[in-house]
Amino acid sequence: MAYTYTTPWLLVVTELLILVSITESKVPAIIVFGDSTVDAGNNNVVPTLLKSNFRPYGRDFAGGRPTGRFSNGRIPPDFISEAFGLKPTVPAYLDPAYNISDFATGVCFASAGTGYDNATSDVLKVIPMWKELEYYKEYKNKLRAYVGKNKANEILSEALYLMSLGTNDFLENYYLSPKRQSQFIVQQYEDLLIGLAGNFIRELYSLGVRKISLTGLPPMGCLPLERTINILGQNECVEKFNNVALEFNGKLDGLVKRLNKELPGLRLLSIDVYKILDQIIKKPSLYGFDVVGKGCCATGKFELSYLCNKLSPFTCADANKYVFWDAFHPTEKTNHIIVNSFLDNLLAYFR
Ligand SMILES: *[C@@H]1O[C@H](CO)[C@@H](O)[C@H](O)[C@H]1NC(C)=O
Ligand SMILES: *[C@@H]1O[C@H](CO)[C@@H](O)[C@H](O)[C@H]1NC(C)=O
Repeated sequence: MAYTYTTPWLLVVTELLILVSITESKVPAIIVFGDSTVDAGNNNVVPTLLKSNFRPYGRDFAGGRPTGRFSNGRIPPDFISEAFGLKPTVPAYLDPAYNISDFATGVCFASAGTGYDNATSDVLKVIPMWKELEYYKEYKNKLRAYVGKNKANEILSEALYLMSLGTNDFLENYYLSPKRQSQFIVQQYEDLLIGLAGNFIRELYSLGVRKISLTGLPPMGCLPLERTINILGQNECVEKFNNVALEFNGKLDGLVKRLNKELPGLRLLSIDVYKILDQIIKKPSLYGFDVVGKGCCATGKFELSYLCNKLSPFTCADANKYVFWDAFHPTEKTNHIIVNSFLDNLLAYFR
């Protein structure tokens, strides 16, 4: 019978194809740079007021543990790591609970409150991007000592690097600081940040990095804190901020195209989180959410970091009904939906 004759060959061919794709398409580690959208707990050991390593942060994380992630549960790099067949969480480099054996498959250098601009990380005394890069270089040396130079180089060049930042440059720095506004109109400031992003990526490239996913800005005028401040606008989204985000994202796409041409072998992908978050915010019920205008923690209108704490009687019971966890950061459920919206792209491009 033809069936019994052909099946083994089909199986062999299929298995060969799978083998080839596994060996060719390896992402052995996820390495993370950026701000609170991706910080897994580095700020815990930084002398800043911007922390989240206490309840109710992390209440839906494994063990209900407040790790320093700015959410009730996991954040995007965790979901991405899991989707690439790696660990379900990416540990923070400065978290004393982990060491190089954990970091060999993923490590996070991100710091809540940071931005492309040095002046942004100064505002809340968090880790600037140049320092995140210094930590990365230190990590490289530790990894070489741990797995050997050749293996370490292979991991570091095949790893997927995530960059997610920029919101703080506008909301925590430019729009709050007379200095930056006196120096630049907002379009000039966008260009300055794009230049800094380009320099950061060139520097990673010169260190051997090849696979980078670069996340653009969310509709930052719709973060609950910005709505709260928008009193004259009836607490609607701040359109001005959303327009800046869209304009900046357009420039970021341009940068990605230029760098992919300029740097041989670079695989740089820009990730649009604006569109999906905008859809969620406009039609929350389609995604199972009830509340979008305020966060789950405390009153949800302005609290984040220490103001979101276990003493508040107002914190919601079910974070899955909320788009935002605190006044600035998405719930775990929102993080998961966001990642799922670009996951196929990411897997196709990098695996
Ligand atoms: C890392 O920590 C684990 C336990 O937490 C320990 O068993 C291991 O020896 C440590 N590895 C290194 C390289 O320090
Ligand atoms: C940011 O600060 C670091 C450390 O002081 C410095 O090396 C770097 O040049 C600064 N970046 C810019 C764009 O000024």
